[in-house]
Amino acid sequence: MTDRTATVTFSDGSPSIVFPVLPGTIGPDVIDIRALYGKTGKFTYDPGFLSTASCSSAITYIDGDKGELLYRGYPIEELATRSDYLEVCHLLLYGDLPTADQKARFYPLVTRHTMVNEQMQFFLRGFRRDAHPMAVMTGLVGAMSAFYPDSINLQDAHQRDISAIRLIAKMPTLVAMAYKYSVGQPYMYPRNDQSYAANFMRMMFATPCEDYKPNDVLVRAMDRIFILHADHEQNASTSTVRMCASSGTNPFAAIAAGVACLWGPAHGGANEACLNMLYDIQRQGGVAKIGEFIAKAKDKNSSVKLMGFGHRVYKNYDPRAKLMRETCYEVLGELGLGDDPLFKLAMALEKIALEDDYFVSRKLYPNVDYYSGIVQKAIGIPVQLFTAIFALARTVGWIAQLNEMVSDPEYKIGRPRQLYTGATRREVVPLAQRG
Ligand code: CMC
Repeated sequence: MTDRTATVTFSDGSPSIVFPVLPGTIGPDVIDIRALYGKTGKFTYDPGFLSTASCSSAITYIDGDKGELLYRGYPIEELATRSDYLEVCHLLLYGDLPTADQKARFYPLVTRHTMVNEQMQFFLRGFRRDAHPMAVMTGLVGAMSAFYPDSINLQDAHQRDISAIRLIAKMPTLVAMAYKYSVGQPYMYPRNDQSYAANFMRMMFATPCEDYKPNDVLVRAMDRIFILHADHEQNASTSTVRMCASSGTNPFAAIAAGVACLWGPAHGGANEACLNMLYDIQRQGGVAKIGEFIAKAKDKNSSVKLMGFGHRVYKNYDPRAKLMRETCYEVLGELGLGDDPLFKLAMALEKIALEDDYFVSRKLYPNVDYYSGIVQKAIGIPVQLFTAIFALARTVGWIAQLNEMVSDPEYKIGRPRQLYTGATRREVVPLAQRG
């Protein structure tokens, strides 16, 4: 609590009102306006939540001006270099990095849940083979509530724990199944003697005829992609999960809602859109065509955007993009693709955009999606699957945020209000008299 306040005055003579100002541990204070409607009969208006904190949270902190990202207080750079994804999952879910004992319990707990109900493959079979993986994932994750009915009670902390582990453990299996289905190959069962990332890559790339030998650099890159995407504060899909779960629905349904939201090109779909953009520029002539493309991205009359650039919160280089660019060098070096034309094009495009006044004045910098597509493509992941991998990695963040919300004694169903601008009350006129 604080003794600082903010006073709102009205020009129409209504009495002014005093609101408490609440401090965070770091970051901007918030003005607690919960009493506004009760006292004045007025709402605030903030489409897109430009100035609205929708909840309090102790999970992730972003300083958009500095380009800083902390999970539970730990800088993303340290987590990306000193821990692995399952340690980060433990951190996000339970508040701290695991001790050696906790790690020894947590890892097998996840790996023992990697198989999915055998019946799920028949459900998957109902999709067209060319269905977009995000359409498939929205369906499969939602369907988990039908396959695991013993862990769907959101109010039961034990059931929530089980559904959390099930989701984290089974997402790689489901993404790999969606991929195998799309290419007509047999599903590969998970192997619990492999790391989380290596197991996923094996389920993707092995076949019953030929095993997949994990390459340490590529496995580490995959694991880093997972870490960098694990949580990101109150973004659109996380807010969707919170909103959805606020009605008391089950965790699988809420996470399916998050998957659906993530699909959009302004959010998780940007990695796919970014790689497709690079391919387009490449096809039209490569580096020589960058100027023309940038002109289109700046033109308000065109719908073209420089995908992988810009962010609602970061007004500086996204720290995840820096780490992803580093990984990009490592992966391309390991695979002997140092001269990869797409990577060279991406670097040239980034350089030109970062020197262009349009992007500089609007503080538009590369975000995590700018380089992640190039890394995934080099690893052998098909472009259409990029966003599903983002969903796989973000699942832990969604669950941590959902758990935090449900455990908050102040939690209520999410119910925004509106500024109504439609017709005032009117009567239904009989059809013959309407003109
Ligand atoms: N290319 C060209 N212009 C841009 C771009 C871009 N990528 N991003 C923003 N702008 C312009 C925008 O037109 C606006 O210009 P003006 O002030 O003249 O009207 C200004 O910059 C501010 O943009 P905004 O759309 O008001 O910003 P926002 O906070 O509502 O949108 C964003 C953020 C991420 C949706 C947007 O930057 C964007 O669409 N970027 C491309 C898609 C992308 O890379 N998304 C991934 C985000 S990071 C991963 C994730 O969270 O999923």
